[in-house]
Amino acid sequence: MGKSFHPCLYQSNPTSPFSEHIRSVRTHLVQRHLRRGQKSLLITSCWPGEGKTTVAINLAAALCEFGLRTLLIDADLRSRRLTRLLLPCGSGGNSPLPTDGSGPMVLGAWAPTEFPPHEALTRPDYVANIISYSQGFQAVLTDSPALSMCSDAHLTQPWVDGAVIVVSRARFQGVSEGNLVEDLREHGIDVVGTLLTEA
Ligand SMILES: Nc1ncnc2c1ncn2[C@@H]1O[C@H](COP(=O)(O)OP(=O)(O)O)[C@@H](O)[C@H]1O
Ligand SMILES: [Mg+2]
Repeated sequence: MGKSFHPCLYQSNPTSPFSEHIRSVRTHLVQRHLRRGQKSLLITSCWPGEGKTTVAINLAAALCEFGLRTLLIDADLRSRRLTRLLLPCGSGGNSPLPTDGSGPMVLGAWAPTEFPPHEALTRPDYVANIISYSQGFQAVLTDSPALSMCSDAHLTQPWVDGAVIVVSRARFQGVSEGNLVEDLREHGIDVVGTLLTEA
């Protein structure tokens, strides 16, 4: 697992193999899904640490570069890594994405509240807020926790049109990933793309 892996390699090294891979997945998603009205995509995986948050950030940067107004939602209310990376607060915080308006808009995860994550994600005001906010965007990516840890990713069904699954090459088993696709489908979410990572 690359501790030194840049959170937005697409920005810092656009010609890296990872950035090329992100670009090819972007092309597929734009042509086959975003342009056909499936603009809101869940990013999920079987296991923690497979690179979901990293993919969400880099894919959002690639979609912005392509000219699409992009919203990035942190629905991992447990780790909130995306929020901590992109909306750093306090002294010395630096976002790896441009803050001049050319990057994605980030809907961060609030600090833990009295509601446990699965309850917070299903609250009508939370869902209504996301759906209403999404209307102003051409692409919406939702980062989520791994489905082996909790079922939070299923709860995004009211606002997502499909899922991109992230698979770490080193952890690929075949059976787990097949089960993940079935499991998502049973919850009304079709897998529309896959992204292999070296995480
Ligand atoms: N494609 C990659 N190659 C190498 N390391 C990666 C890659 N993507 C993510 N990582 C590293 O793996 C760790 C977990 O990444 P993260 O995106 O937070 O995973 P997840 O959101 O699935 O838990 C981080 O240390 C990150 O820097
Ligand atoms: Mg994550």
